[in-house]
Amino acid sequence: MKNYEINNIVSHKIYQGENFEKTKIKIMQRIKEKKLDTTTEQELILLLEKMYSTEMGRFMIEHSGFNGYWTEYVCSYPDLKKQGFKLTENEFEKYLLENLPFYLATQSRFQIFKTEIKKRLCDNISIASLPCGLMTDILLQDFKGINNFQLHGIDLDQSALDQAKAIALSKGLIHHCTFTREDGWKIEHKNQFDLVTSNGFNIYVDDEDKNIAFYKKIYQALTDKGELITSTIVPPPTEDPYSSWELKKINLDALKIQAIVMNYFTEFNKNNFKSAEKLCIILKKAGFNKFQVIPDNLGIFPTIIAKK
Ligand SMILES: C[S@@+](CC[C@H](N)C(=O)[O-])C[C@H]1O[C@@H](n2cnc3c(N)ncnc32)[C@H](O)[C@@H]1O
Repeated sequence: MKNYEINNIVSHKIYQGENFEKTKIKIMQRIKEKKLDTTTEQELILLLEKMYSTEMGRFMIEHSGFNGYWTEYVCSYPDLKKQGFKLTENEFEKYLLENLPFYLATQSRFQIFKTEIKKRLCDNISIASLPCGLMTDILLQDFKGINNFQLHGIDLDQSALDQAKAIALSKGLIHHCTFTREDGWKIEHKNQFDLVTSNGFNIYVDDEDKNIAFYKKIYQALTDKGELITSTIVPPPTEDPYSSWELKKINLDALKIQAIVMNYFTEFNKNNFKSAEKLCIILKKAGFNKFQVIPDNLGIFPTIIAKK
């Protein structure tokens, strides 16, 4: 991958030649520099070791975010568990998948996306996903009885596109699909899609103008009556007194782990958080004018449906 493309991937760092051990040493140094009391320092080091005991934890720390594969890993977990599949044997990873507030919120959001997409399926529909990741919110829909539909996945990471393509093939959808490797800010699709889904992009971007520019591109790509299904991570109550987070429903031990991972182990930028209202303002500036907000079950990761 070319350097400018690597830099434009907002969701996860792509390293060439780095390794987990180097990142771990850097984090250990960061912890020591904080001059915390011994118990807290020990607690952080123990948690770091636990995170490193799972491939998911290692990816999150090493890359400061999630790519398409790990997003899918988290989102599909409840459905696969319900279907009785054998899932992780690592107890800590299981704990994270079943308790971490962001994970539970995005699992709930994923179900909302699937439901909202399903409601809109009809003959001749053209749907795009940007960034598509593995695109299972669309590819796992039941298209029986729907004629002449087109599905378009757009992502800058070729590995996400390849994985989505393989899923489309296994679901018998490949001849309805197009996958293109494009930078979200540079797409030039015009008046092409009746529905665009976009999850997991603005949550990595703090600059308002950049978010507006991204959604303008989607606005232009939509047909006249087109709709966008998107989402946002709301700031926690510690950052915003009007936060919609439902603390009573949140496991506080898991919340503490989440805060440590964000503050000490990754370079996640808290300014990326936006309330649903803030995202609606951004969408309005990008041209959209009708909004529906659908909360997830923890009030953390709402879905926003915007119309042209
Ligand atoms: C958190 S994942 C979300 C994927 C998918 N929307 C989902 O919900 O499963 C973020 C995705 O954004 C893609 N991405 C990051 N920066 C991008 C950019 N500048 N243009 C297009 N895609 C990008 C990544 O490759 C990754 O697949």
